[in-house]
Amino acid sequence: MKLIAHLLIAVTAVASPLFAIASDAAAPALASSAPTVHAAPPVARAAKPDLVKGEATFAVCAACHGADGNSATPAYPKLAQQHPEYLVKQLQEFKSGKRVNPLMVGFASMLSDEDMKNVAYWVAAKKAKAGSSTDKSLVQLGERIYRGGIADRQIPACAGCHSPNGTGIPAQYPRLSGQHPDYVAAQLTAFRDGVRQNSLQMSQVAAKLNDREIKATADYIAGLR
Ligand code: HEC
Ligand code: HEC
Repeated sequence: MKLIAHLLIAVTAVASPLFAIASDAAAPALASSAPTVHAAPPVARAAKPDLVKGEATFAVCAACHGADGNSATPAYPKLAQQHPEYLVKQLQEFKSGKRVNPLMVGFASMLSDEDMKNVAYWVAAKKAKAGSSTDKSLVQLGERIYRGGIADRQIPACAGCHSPNGTGIPAQYPRLSGQHPDYVAAQLTAFRDGVRQNSLQMSQVAAKLNDREIKATADYIAGLR
């Protein structure tokens, strides 16, 4: 009887630190799902986008971005499955000149706020085609930067904002997974060099990346799913 009591005490003593670890681990998981929960209500409350009109508008865009938003051309971004709020923000900023692009300023300027919303929600509902990494010699460096950043140069992990699998966090952080590596590398370079100036956060993230690190991260992102 005395032996059993000792055993019980021993088991409890061993088990309790484990319980403590388990409950600590549960807290960040809950915290990280919070932004999604917060983001949902504004979308649900807003007036419903007209997807039929959105599809009609997209006929103009399909030439470059692909019939279903999966562009086949490396320089043109895939838009399928991107967060619609992010797409609307980009269209508004192309139109206002906050994001500078000679092609997109023309197309965005043709669109009203309603048109932007309709077309964004239509293409966001299309399924993104997966991409793949191609450069075996760089992909490990890319994975390291994406998942852990580069601590001694204050470069943050991309996963922290764009999520570990690259699907982003609606509505603030865009989806990256499967995007054309040429496009991703071009955007990171544009943020770094001050050519794309519509996100202070991304300008700071990209500021210290060198060309090789940009290429590696872009290649890793292409294979994320
Ligand atoms: C002639 C080719 C072309 C056409 C047509 C075109 N786009 Fe684009 N689009 C581009 C290019 C190139 C970029 C990348 C711009 C850059 O590098 O900043 C882009 C970028 C975008 C982006 C930003 C995507 C991101 O991930 O940040 C959105 C949104 C977009 N286009 C929507 C549209 C819509 C909607 C239409 C139709 C009304 C359209 N585009 C028509 C070439 C085109
Ligand atoms: C602190 C949060 C944060 C971190 C960390 C971060 N990003 Fe971003 N990223 C953003 C935001 C916000 C945007 C949207 C910018 C906008 O609205 O135009 C963005 C946009 C981008 C875009 C443009 C997407 C498109 O479709 O044009 C790329 C590419 C990108 N990030 C890559 C990265 C990479 C690679 C890393 C890691 C080296 C990284 N980001 C780390 C917040 C972050």
